[in-house]
Amino acid sequence: MRSIIATAGLAALVSLASAAPAQAPVNQPPIISDNIQSATLSAPTPKSTNNGEIFPLSDGFPNPSPQQIEVIEIQAHGSLPNGAPPPTISNEGIINLQLIAFNELFEAAFFADLIFNITNHVPGFDIPDPGYRTLVIETLTAALAQEELHLLNANGALKHFNKDPIQPCHYTFPTTNFEDAIALAATFTDVVLGTLQNVIEIFAANGDAALTTGVASVVGQEGEQDGFYRILQNKNLIPNALPFLTTSTRDFAFSALQGFVIPGTCPNENEIPLSIFGVLKLVTPTVKPMDQTLTFSFDLGSTTDFSHYDWSQLTLQYINQQNVPVAEPLTNVRVSGTVITFDALFPFNEFLMNGLTIAAVTVGTGFTSAVDVSKATLFAPALIEVN
Ligand SMILES: *[C@@H]1O[C@H](CO)[C@@H](O)[C@H](O)[C@H]1NC(C)=O
Repeated sequence: MRSIIATAGLAALVSLASAAPAQAPVNQPPIISDNIQSATLSAPTPKSTNNGEIFPLSDGFPNPSPQQIEVIEIQAHGSLPNGAPPPTISNEGIINLQLIAFNELFEAAFFADLIFNITNHVPGFDIPDPGYRTLVIETLTAALAQEELHLLNANGALKHFNKDPIQPCHYTFPTTNFEDAIALAATFTDVVLGTLQNVIEIFAANGDAALTTGVASVVGQEGEQDGFYRILQNKNLIPNALPFLTTSTRDFAFSALQGFVIPGTCPNENEIPLSIFGVLKLVTPTVKPMDQTLTFSFDLGSTTDFSHYDWSQLTLQYINQQNVPVAEPLTNVRVSGTVITFDALFPFNEFLMNGLTIAAVTVGTGFTSAVDVSKATLFAPALIEVN
């Protein structure tokens, strides 16, 4: 229903645009309706930027009307898929859609807040060069609308399969300047790019092949965004990070997203049956493209006396590119109350560990895939970015 209306809207626009030159004198701008004009000029604004209650945006997202969807599609430079989803889906496939929706809501919240900060000259987010500022705002406005359509597509599919659409949370962002915000956008986009690999494999393994192409199209789309965030970072990064992007798992992504939601504000997060691991912190502030020792910490949150615990039962696993996970022992383990701090080698040279690396503390070792690591994980993910 929605996509039919949206398509009709686009068709009307196209005919308007092509009809315009015939009606208007030469060199007159084509006639476009008011809502379309404002759509191309300004990004939707968050409900509030103070308490993390970003939604609904001024464009109605995440529950836009059919007319508002037309505007979002114009800003996204394209439409929602207008074919019907397949008639059936596996239970695991439903979880894929739920995770995609949960993630896209976060991404939309982040970009709406970031665009607000830039356009309102919030300290730390002012971009002095007008040409550069325009390029950034235009790109982020398109990215926001594209994330909005990703969400509407996933939640629309959930509704089609008679499942609850995922509702937004209130969000918290750690970034207080433009550079850090773009670095974070690149990092969470890298996690998404890895996680969608897992999503596609799960669809394929559970008879949901019809849902794989749409997700694969989003992988490329997020990759285009990621190249821009890399270029923006001013760290001499080239847009193309790696030959084979780092893989991830649904549980790693779901756990990472918990860091951006205000606890207790997600109306139906509990309907998503994925694991939430304990937090693993990367203590080392910057990771260089070289072999080095990194420091991590996690909080056991328990009063048990761990001073005699055998830490050799645990390993640190690094997931990078499409390689077999790299295992390192936890060394120099320090116990302070419930907080455990340890060191581990980051063997950059041997594996050329550029781009995203996901670190996880697991029970045991000898894993051959990210999924196997994920199944044995206690604390994760720590997200490492190099080059
Ligand atoms: C926007 O600015 C506020 C105030 O500095 C900050 O707390 C918030 O994290 C910023 N948003 C993003 C997405 O960086």
